[in-house]
Amino acid sequence: METMLANMIEEIMELKKSKDFVILAHNYQLPELQDIADHVGDSLQLATLATQLEKSRILFLGVDFMAETIKLLNPDKTVIVPDPEATCPLANSLTPEIVERYRNEFPGVPIVLYINSTLECKAFADVICTSANAVEIVARLDGQRVIFGPDKNLASYVAEKTGKDIIPIPGETGYCYVHENFKISSPLDARRSYPEAKIMVHPEVPKELRRLADYVGSTGQMLRYPAATDAREFVVGTEIGMLHRLRKTFPDRIFYPLDHAICSNMKLNTLEKVYRSLNEEVYEVTIDEEIARKAFKSVRKMFELMER
Ligand code: 13P
Ligand code: SF4
Repeated sequence: METMLANMIEEIMELKKSKDFVILAHNYQLPELQDIADHVGDSLQLATLATQLEKSRILFLGVDFMAETIKLLNPDKTVIVPDPEATCPLANSLTPEIVERYRNEFPGVPIVLYINSTLECKAFADVICTSANAVEIVARLDGQRVIFGPDKNLASYVAEKTGKDIIPIPGETGYCYVHENFKISSPLDARRSYPEAKIMVHPEVPKELRRLADYVGSTGQMLRYPAATDAREFVVGTEIGMLHRLRKTFPDRIFYPLDHAICSNMKLNTLEKVYRSLNEEVYEVTIDEEIARKAFKSVRKMFELMER
């Protein structure tokens, strides 16, 4: 079994080299996929990195909205994904019709959409944000009111941090099933089991959980947190793939999962599918030019606001 795995990894590496692909993977990918990737990161890091890549062929391991963002920022590059079914239910919970309805209902109020949204919705937004920069982006906008979607938990975190009046869209149905399902008793159990450990959670968890944590941050921010504290042990409240990333980055620290939370969409990507993807050069990510032109403006606005 191990030899078969090693052979497959070797073949993937050869294909990657001969076909001149670069592999980008999100922090939630399976450990063996993170290990074969050239770059592993959060959605903002990957989107930014993609613009600086010299290679013109990208194999992306994550979910569809992330792959589309990479294509959006790199229209002349080939972007392929191993499984086109790998999507994000949170992103799909918002439709362009809902965004337009709120635009008409609240004229002049800026619409900020989380990068976990469809390209069609991004085309209707004023600016995009990620969980790493949502607070800064909203704080830098003029005015007190902001329409924000689709994650209601990130919306409430942004409201708390900025003091602004956030109108969440689509509302109660906008959440990530992976982060919404952490048990409220888990941080309390973790404190009992690991009294010295710091608890870190992703801002997609509900408010009640956030309040029981020591640190709230995106996956990229979670990767910087251990170096900023003296703590040796950490309890991690996000998708389980993050544990591999943290353990590899900080081999001298101990990481426990808050719950065994799995994003089944992220986990659709496997080594076998990666091999097929590189071998057959499937599945190519394509985006509608007109939608891309509009969505690009809202992503560009994010980069502009970040530079201020
Ligand atoms: P990050 O932007 O923190 O990587 O999160 C993306 C995501 O899908 C969280 O569930
Ligand atoms: Fe979407 Fe949640 Fe999976 Fe992230 S963890 S890709 S928000 S379903």
